Amino acid sequence: MKYLQGLIAVLILISCQPNNDNRLIEDNFRLAQAQYTNMLKVVTDPTRVPRTTKDGKLHTTGIKSWTSGFFAGSLWYLYEYTQAEKWRKEAEKWTQALEPVKFVTNNHDVGFMMYCSYGNGLRLVGNEAYQPILVQAAESLMTRFNSTVGCTESWDYRKAWDGKTEWFFPVIIDNMMNLELLFYASKATGDPKYKDAAIEHAETTMKNHYRKDFSSYHVVDYDTLSGDVLDKATCQGYTDASAWARGQAWGLYGFTMVYRETNDPKFLSFARNIADYIINHPSLPADKIPLWDFNALDPEFKPEWMIDKSKYTLRERDVSAGAIIASALYELSTYTGEDGEKYRGFADQVIESLSSPAYRAKEGENNNFILTRSVGSIPHGAEITVPLNYADYYFLEALLRKKELEG
Ligand code: GLY
Repeated sequence: MKYLQGLIAVLILISCQPNNDNRLIEDNFRLAQAQYTNMLKVVTDPTRVPRTTKDGKLHTTGIKSWTSGFFAGSLWYLYEYTQAEKWRKEAEKWTQALEPVKFVTNNHDVGFMMYCSYGNGLRLVGNEAYQPILVQAAESLMTRFNSTVGCTESWDYRKAWDGKTEWFFPVIIDNMMNLELLFYASKATGDPKYKDAAIEHAETTMKNHYRKDFSSYHVVDYDTLSGDVLDKATCQGYTDASAWARGQAWGLYGFTMVYRETNDPKFLSFARNIADYIINHPSLPADKIPLWDFNALDPEFKPEWMIDKSKYTLRERDVSAGAIIASALYELSTYTGEDGEKYRGFADQVIESLSSPAYRAKEGENNNFILTRSVGSIPHGAEITVPLNYADYYFLEALLRKKELEG
């Protein structure tokens, strides 16, 4: 009898313990709160947004940098996890400082900047004042849509690495991420024009950005008079023909999101093909954190830009790509029936690696960012093996998605 009582007590105790996955999520949010609490002691002006480190010091940007929405977005994720007023107040402060961004029309990044900040705010607290701000941001993005090309233009006119090739209407794979703002604007206003543009952009990208193996080019340049493709190239990857890791991540996340918004199976099957390309890639290290470019160590690929080995080895990992891939795969796993296990299992492996000392900061270190070892752009010699605010953002998002799946 005594033995039975003891056994029951132990079983009750075990069933009340969080499982390993929940403990991992809890531990990451504990660290995230400690790091961001310290960060907020260092940065108090919400128009100077923490982005990365430079020469070992915190580097902030103005609100019109493409990364300005991620810090507010991470604060929203801290609020989502903790439900603590402290984080809501900070998230609101850092979101509202971005309002002037709603008029940005000189690049495509208004989607990143506004939807990660205001979009999460609207989702979590339903502040109606955010709605017209987001719609104005979508309107700004729409000024870059060209119906002959069937895409929104990412960057204004510029030249490729060779200094000669001109890009007149460059569209980068990253731009798939900005479509979420357009889908939102159609739901908010009832006007289908935003959503129609988003779908057309996704279809054009499927046609022109992807290779037969479902890897993606970084940049595709278009002729605005005919809609013809003029160039397929890279700007941040190893070579024009290679698979820049973050680009693959943006595409995977983007097409998964477009499926969520449209329910059109062609986007789901496309997202699955991208996912399979990524998770089966032979260059993936055992810990599943990708090299900055999947082909960076393949002798068959020859870069178009000058290599400066004093700044990097080419073996660098990109933690930001890992975090984006994990978050996207958690979502994809919910749309793919039994195969979902494969995508969720891979995402779990990424999250476990990112939670280890190999990639996660110790409390009080890393200029208060959560993750280490991301890569901004190796060809530009910029932000190499440093923290980046978007790695933190997608890591927290992935953890929240994992938590949701754990139930
Ligand atoms: N969207 C710019 C980047 O991924 O570096």
